[in-house]
Amino acid sequence: MQALVATDIRKAFGPLEVLRGISLKADKGDVIAIIGGSGSGKSTFLRCLNLLERPDAGSLWLNGLALDFGDGDRARTIAPATKAQLRRRLGMVFQSFNLWTHMTALDNVIAGPIHVLGQDRKAAREAGMELLGKVGLADKAAAHPAQLSGGQQQRVAIARALAMRPEALLFDEPTSALDPELVGEVLQVIKALAAEGRTMILVTHEMAFARDVATHVMYFLDGRVEEEGAPDRIFTDPRSERCRSFLRKFL
Ligand SMILES: Nc1ncnc2c1ncn2[C@@H]1O[C@H](COP(=O)(O)OP(=O)(O)OP(=O)(O)O)[C@@H](O)[C@H]1O
Ligand SMILES: [Mg+2]
Repeated sequence: MQALVATDIRKAFGPLEVLRGISLKADKGDVIAIIGGSGSGKSTFLRCLNLLERPDAGSLWLNGLALDFGDGDRARTIAPATKAQLRRRLGMVFQSFNLWTHMTALDNVIAGPIHVLGQDRKAAREAGMELLGKVGLADKAAAHPAQLSGGQQQRVAIARALAMRPEALLFDEPTSALDPELVGEVLQVIKALAAEGRTMILVTHEMAFARDVATHVMYFLDGRVEEEGAPDRIFTDPRSERCRSFLRKFL
């Protein structure tokens, strides 16, 4: 069953063409790993998927919600309500956590459910505590972000994304701001989410992890998909010389 389809997404910043027609199809439960060098357009693509950037062209489909960006047709605006709906349905986890520093871990997790989904505070707290437990942080509910390690902050950010009950999760290098010894605990949480059958798009430089959890791998080069396929094939026998030499750096 298809969950998320992006077709021929294009985006330029002035003269710089950052996405030159990128298409992605995720079935429910797919984990799609996006790899590629710095500046290849990985973050911009994720930001286009949840409309933090407005694509110049292409279309998007999320479980029945269809958006057509036209073809360089900037006049075709996206209604704020549609944007809000899409963002609610696609959870995003950033490299830099982006937690609210003045709020406790639990309040970070329940703010969206209360203010956006309109849940009552008691139900939101119960669900929030359960999610903090799921990411191994039940004992840190009252801590503020400054009192948490980077790995703990990122796990709160994942719980916060889950609290919105998204249909798919987008991760943009969720472990690359972490000290090496904290990477594993975050990857473990993401792996558990994959095992639950969640649909996820994951930009990562953790190649062993991508090979382990992904159902499909896309290698971006200069705003295009240079190569894509099953993880075992991409990581052992890439067809593209550029993909091969990119992967060699991680050996
Ligand atoms: N808002 C913006 N305005 C102008 N140029 C931008 C903007 N956002 C991104 N770019 C440019 O678009 C290109 C792709 O950037 P992007 O952040 O998508 O790359 P990336 O693949 O995520 O790289 P990294 O691995 O370093 O995170 C880069 O050349 C970047 O400088
Ligand atoms: Mg990036």
